[in-house]
Amino acid sequence: MVKKDLLSIYDLSAKEIKIILSTSLELKNKKKNLNVFKGKTLGLLLEEPSTRTMVSFAVAIVQLGGVPVYLDIEKMQCSRGESIRDTSLVLSRYLSGLMIRAFKHSYVEEFAKYATIPVINGLTDYEHPCQVLADVMTIMEFHKARNIEGLKKIKIVYTGDSNNVANSLLAVSVVLGLDLTIISPKEYLTKKEILNKALEYVLSTGAEIKITSDINEVKNADVIYTDVWTSMGFESEEKKRKKIFMSYQVNSELLAKASSKCIVLHCLPATRGEEITADIMTKYEDVIFTQAENRLHVQKAILLYFIK
Ligand code: CP
Ligand code: NVA
Repeated sequence: MVKKDLLSIYDLSAKEIKIILSTSLELKNKKKNLNVFKGKTLGLLLEEPSTRTMVSFAVAIVQLGGVPVYLDIEKMQCSRGESIRDTSLVLSRYLSGLMIRAFKHSYVEEFAKYATIPVINGLTDYEHPCQVLADVMTIMEFHKARNIEGLKKIKIVYTGDSNNVANSLLAVSVVLGLDLTIISPKEYLTKKEILNKALEYVLSTGAEIKITSDINEVKNADVIYTDVWTSMGFESEEKKRKKIFMSYQVNSELLAKASSKCIVLHCLPATRGEEITADIMTKYEDVIFTQAENRLHVQKAILLYFIK
């Protein structure tokens, strides 16, 4: 059987995303038999810090009856120069699946190229696919959309840095045919090649996509989503970014332009006073922590779908 990886949202068809979302919702409502992964192992390989992704994947495999295996890169032979190919081939002999968080997307692609087990992207500089599946699930729950058709009426606005999270949000929106506006300062707009790839889907799925630097495009938003202005790996630009991004902050003034039923999403960790004000974080805490909780339900659905 050919193994399948989740490196990008584009690895999934709309049909597959629907299956993962409906499984996640079923799991959350405890309608699904869980103990199906007895003897299965999930490797967790992280080059960067993580709270939600690491813990939700670890708990997900345990709740499915399997075992997480934490891989400390510093203590592995790859830190002494063993190749990705050899590491990947060896890990494939022990594990049932491998989740990797890495600075460079190419690092995860290289692992996946040689692995004979499914490789799941737990965030790279290019995408964060598992995150946005939980985000779509959260929007469905809070806006009471029973299916993808219901989601299409919802205006989703992402404001801030067009980073890995924004790239995956764009990808999931074009694959499902959603209405997404991304608002970023001009130096931080979606990169041309990422936008071009997304536009290939628009005609066939009917997605409504706007990429702009005009913060007034937030008007009538049903969802406002933001993420940190300085992602992991970009710390040296922090000072410069704080100035450039200030007018893209999620605050009460911005919320006043949105629809009266607008919800606020944040993938976390949040930097209060930068991309989001403390009062808005508090006001939408229930949505944002449900979004974090949904990572667990989605990770289980992903593991069930990818690990056979
Ligand atoms: N949102 C998210 O991926 O959080 P972590 O960095 O804590 O995994
Ligand atoms: N864009 C952020 C997401 C963290 C979950 C980063 O890459 O640091």
